[in-house]
Amino acid sequence: MKRIYVINGPNLNRLGLREPDVYGHKTLADLEEFIEKKGKQHSCEVLCFQSNSEGQIIDRIHEAGDKNISMIINPGAYTHYSYAIRDAIASVSVPVMEVHISNVHARESFRQHSVTAAVAKGQIVGLGFKGYELALLALLEGEVE
Ligand code: DQA
Repeated sequence: MKRIYVINGPNLNRLGLREPDVYGHKTLADLEEFIEKKGKQHSCEVLCFQSNSEGQIIDRIHEAGDKNISMIINPGAYTHYSYAIRDAIASVSVPVMEVHISNVHARESFRQHSVTAAVAKGQIVGLGFKGYELALLALLEGEVE
């Protein structure tokens, strides 16, 4: 069975509590249940991971690369400044899709630049949880491989 990692970065464990006007009322558990279910519908095992620490996210990216598992990543605020996460993505040869729940381009200027997007295969922003589903479909259909 095909496997895909979903990696959520800092503060995404606060979904449902943090800025609901921006991120909605649903929780990380809701998101993980949603994307795991979408995976099952496509005979794919989705393995979710969330961490607030840069090193753990980097370790998970390396692991995906070593196991040849494609991934969907929402690096949270690390998106905007973590060269270390960018380098981790660049160090693996599996496809990586970057997702943001909110439309980062309609927000503060510091959110409008991603240091990680250039090393991802593609980026989906502003579509809420749906963005994860579309990223999953793109990876499964191999459109971005
Ligand atoms: C986010 C956007 C980031 O700017 C922010 O720091 C987050 C969440 C999003 O999913 O919209 O933590 O990645």
